[in-house]
Amino acid sequence: MNRPLRWPAPWTLEVLDQTRLPFAVEWVALRSAAACRHAITSMQVRGAPLLGAVGAFGLAFAVREAAGSRDGVNASHPGASASDDALDAAVEELASARPTAINLRWAVTRVAEAVRAVPKSERAERAWGEAVRIADEDAAGNAAIGAHGAALLRAQLTPGRPLQLLTHCNAGWLATAGHGTALAPIYALHAAGVPVHVWVDETRPRNQGAALTAWELAAAEVPHTVIADNAGGLLLMRGAVDAVLVGADRVAANGDVANKVGTYLKALAARAHGVPFLVACPVSTLDPATPSGEAIAIEERDASEVVYVTGADDDGTVTRVRVVPAGSAVANPAFDLTPASLVTSLITERGIVPATAAGIRSLTEGMA
Ligand code: MRU
Repeated sequence: MNRPLRWPAPWTLEVLDQTRLPFAVEWVALRSAAACRHAITSMQVRGAPLLGAVGAFGLAFAVREAAGSRDGVNASHPGASASDDALDAAVEELASARPTAINLRWAVTRVAEAVRAVPKSERAERAWGEAVRIADEDAAGNAAIGAHGAALLRAQLTPGRPLQLLTHCNAGWLATAGHGTALAPIYALHAAGVPVHVWVDETRPRNQGAALTAWELAAAEVPHTVIADNAGGLLLMRGAVDAVLVGADRVAANGDVANKVGTYLKALAARAHGVPFLVACPVSTLDPATPSGEAIAIEERDASEVVYVTGADDDGTVTRVRVVPAGSAVANPAFDLTPASLVTSLITERGIVPATAAGIRSLTEGMA
């Protein structure tokens, strides 16, 4: 199994630096909570489930770093120990690194809850173990998403042509701790010998489709074609797409979906042309505590991501060029919201459900 993170030994975490792909494959060692947070904010790691896994390891580092600190009673919070306050602060520090993907807050909170009940001397080891569990559960969940999604997609096959799928951003193994979410069913079908072709949105401004999804699919020898983000509408109109399949950063209690900016336009076009719009995500991406999409914080990222494009010149030298005139105003919302009414189904490791309050509840009972 390809994975974008590895831990050859306890307290040794390495991640594949996604800011260097597709031009170089470089692993970076992360040895502290601050290093994990930096990997998250700099996009060395990205994708909601992977953010969760790296955040979990980051919290384990924070617990170990705090282990030597004084554990006295905190005067401003009677009953709370200094180490519990430090834990809360570390959770906030990591969870706020990228606000839209709920998996990040979910994972760091899960590690924090796992250690609260144990003696201070055992907390670091317990935290590391919980982070490993989160990463491994994600990988197992991805495999189940792949199986459920593949079964669903087989029904969309048109005799005589490969299954035509359109995806946005990167929801492959690079975005998770295992096989991916939206790409997992595609890998499962490809492995089963079902002919598949993927239309890959380039996904400006950071080009996760062109740089990451295309790189993954090429390595796995899955037939694919990279398109400009705005080409999808025409392809859907012409009947060249059997299903749109994307991941998610957060799904609200009513089924509204936050995902990479541009997803919403694909959902509108899919609905206009009667094409299924499928969202694949682990249950950890469902957020029953957020009633609807309008309550989801949309991350606003640096304008430089829109102003500049990074690529390789004909000699292979990686370079960054400006594509917006100096002086133009720039906005960079990183995600958008797809109303539940446009989502045909949610594909999760626990099964396929409609994007409705009842569908979400059936998977999350007892979570919030
Ligand atoms: O900004 P990114 O690259 O972290 O955005 C990633 C996405 O929007 C993915 O579609 C989403 O996280 C699902 S990944 C399995």
